[in-house]
Amino acid sequence: MPLSKVAASPIARLKTGIGELDRVLGGGLVPGSLVLLGGSPGIGKSTLTNMALGNIAAAGHKTLYVSGEESAEQVRLRAERLSPSALEVPVLAETDLDGVLEAIASHEPKVCVIDSVQTLRSAELSGAPGSVGQVREVAARIMDVAKARSIAVVLVGHVTKDGALAGPRVLEHLVDCVLQFEGERERPYRELRALKNRFGSTNEAGLFEMRQGGLVEVLDASARFVAEATRAPGSVVLAAMEGSRPLLVEVQALVAPSELEQPRRVVSGLDRNRLALVLAILGRHGGIGVGGHDVFVNVVGGVRVDEPGVDLAIALAVASAARGVALNGQIAELGRSPGSGGAPCACFGELGLTGELRWVGHPERRLAEAARHGLAGVLAPSGSGAQAREASTLREALVAALPAAARRPARAA
Ligand code: TYD
Ligand code: MG
Repeated sequence: MPLSKVAASPIARLKTGIGELDRVLGGGLVPGSLVLLGGSPGIGKSTLTNMALGNIAAAGHKTLYVSGEESAEQVRLRAERLSPSALEVPVLAETDLDGVLEAIASHEPKVCVIDSVQTLRSAELSGAPGSVGQVREVAARIMDVAKARSIAVVLVGHVTKDGALAGPRVLEHLVDCVLQFEGERERPYRELRALKNRFGSTNEAGLFEMRQGGLVEVLDASARFVAEATRAPGSVVLAAMEGSRPLLVEVQALVAPSELEQPRRVVSGLDRNRLALVLAILGRHGGIGVGGHDVFVNVVGGVRVDEPGVDLAIALAVASAARGVALNGQIAELGRSPGSGGAPCACFGELGLTGELRWVGHPERRLAEAARHGLAGVLAPSGSGAQAREASTLREALVAALPAAARRPARAA
């Protein structure tokens, strides 16, 4: 049959009432779909799903929260901290798969949360809960019920320390959507990303903050990060893209003499290999070597940046840290001297292996976001637009960003 003749009704969506979550889902939960929500323990998965169910219940839909991990009492105590509607969600504390399936069939919720998929156990299989066989069986049986009755199911899954969906990895093919909840436990910021989504884009990310009353959406993240930017040596603001949304974040670097034979390369919020690559380019094409030094690079606020535009920010932050001087902000525009508390230096761009600065997507949106937060003279690759301070190579960018005295090929600080 030609595809044009195939009947397809528009996808209905159930809003979770949490804007950032709905956006990452692609507009809300799709009835009959399976969503896997992964994240390390304590990151806020139970909180997020409980809040969502509360909102959905308040909108008049039937919900069910299955807890294999906590007692009903514990779930209630959490819900008390959230909203009154979170307390309206029916809870089932059960680890037996058949019991859960029965409850779903008799209660017929529109949305059901299984917290977590690793704690349920099918009596027909011998493996321990959380084993690959059990997790697969649990998910497959729940999926049958979900599809047959058009129930949207969120499977909560734990990830191991290194961030891999260990048990749930085997579920990624089965489910319609894989969401990852990330962040550092000790810090308030949490980021929600879609790794797979049959009903939406995988580029979107949602930002939350863990507070007393649960998770709060962070809608003015750029303003916060820019205001908190230190402007000190080793600091630069990156005009990043988080999916379709621009976000300004501070990237910080520290370069210090190392006592180790193999100096440390430590990153947070970035890909470690990216740092290695940028350091090599910085040494070879920027004349700034950091051999014999430990290098630490951090995206402030616990945010993760996974896009090529971060290269220039890493390079400038490390260069500034290595030389011990603050980067030139928008001195040309404001007549301020560098490091005098003026606007921080902002940038974006990908570095090529031959030291060229390469164009990255959505320069106009990045520049507009920077301008909205008072940052002019953003260092950017050629072709980015009239408002940018354009550079076509790393060297040109360093000339523009580093004060002249710091550019001499001296020792690293
Ligand atoms: P939780 O949702 O239980 O995490 P997960 O299900 O991913 O393991 O929440 C984890 C942490 O969040 C917990 O240590 C306490 C904290 N928290 C708050 O700070 N404020 C709140 O309102 C709630 C409910 C939790
Ligand atoms: Mg939990």
